[in-house]
Amino acid sequence: MSKIRAAITAVGGYVPEYRLTNEILETMVDTTDEWIMSRTGIKERRILKGEGLGTSDMGAEAVKQLLEKRGIGADEIDLLICCTVTPDLVFPATANIITDKIGAKNAFGFDLMAACSGFLYGLTTGSKYIESGQYKKVVVVGGDKMSSIIDYTDRTTCIIFGDGCGAALLEPTEEEVGIMDAIMKSDGSGRVHLHQKAGGSVKPASHETVDAKEHFVYQEGQPVFKFAVTNMAEVSAEIMERNNLVSDDITWLVPHQANKRIIDATANRMGVGEDKVMLNIHRYGNTTNGTIPLCLWEWENQLHKGDNLVLSAFGGGFTWGSIYLKWAYDSK
Ligand code: UT7
Repeated sequence: MSKIRAAITAVGGYVPEYRLTNEILETMVDTTDEWIMSRTGIKERRILKGEGLGTSDMGAEAVKQLLEKRGIGADEIDLLICCTVTPDLVFPATANIITDKIGAKNAFGFDLMAACSGFLYGLTTGSKYIESGQYKKVVVVGGDKMSSIIDYTDRTTCIIFGDGCGAALLEPTEEEVGIMDAIMKSDGSGRVHLHQKAGGSVKPASHETVDAKEHFVYQEGQPVFKFAVTNMAEVSAEIMERNNLVSDDITWLVPHQANKRIIDATANRMGVGEDKVMLNIHRYGNTTNGTIPLCLWEWENQLHKGDNLVLSAFGGGFTWGSIYLKWAYDSK
């Protein structure tokens, strides 16, 4: 019997309507469009507006779209993994809320937290449930409402992040397509450079933590940048070597969209030209868990069965990794 692989068989995405442009940010903090563009490549990001709306609302929209494309019902989903750092609530899991909102009555679900690498960790985890033969339809959602943890008076972080969510359906295949290989890494000592200080068990929320703005993203940009450039490029080169891939074999690099300069360094290291790099950072900024599935969603129409994709990410934790997959379908 041939090996069962997990293949992406549909993707969905959702970005909120409201556009927070660099020009608007210029009126909020001491910054310029020129600085933001030259340092990050970001022009605008989407922000989820509306009372009572959270990550699950974007996730539910992305999954509904994916189900419609695949022509299946929500009750056919076996498992839903939601990768996020901005869950609706600390508990229960946002995955449970999404399954409820879409009516996925037969699914179990859980959240997975690996910051910007979360979607890759989620795809890897989901693929194992498929490869085991036990589950047939696993949905991996990646997304964040970053605006809920961003301090819009801090010019070093508010220019980077945006809101958005994507989702991918994994199904079994015995063909030579799907997830071929994955390398996932983490180094918890990096947590000092990128984290949220309060709201967890070490420092529960209090008046003091709110006054000290400790529920917002804390980031030391330069060390994170340095580690990101080195590790994202390194792990992408490693997965190519391990699978005997040369640059000409790569159809698309699908990088986490944190900073255009980090993406360029990764593409250079892989020997991949700009025309093979999925890039939408200028329109959405860094949506954390949303960046990679949103790229797949936007490029889906250009993908063909057998295309070689390398997905790469780096983020808080530190966490990083690469997935090599062969695209499983021609879009209709
Ligand atoms: O996805 C999660 C992982 N996160 C990342 O991958 C982010 C990695 N880091 C970065 O992308 C970059 O470090 C940033 C975009 C965050 C910052 O760019 P940088 O080139 O590293 O700038 P910097 O932090 O070294 O700051 C340079 C200068 C500073 O001023 P002085 O001290 O030289 O006078 C900053 O205060 O730029 C200043 N600055 C700004 N100026 C205008 C910082 N933010 C801004 C701003 N507008 N928004």
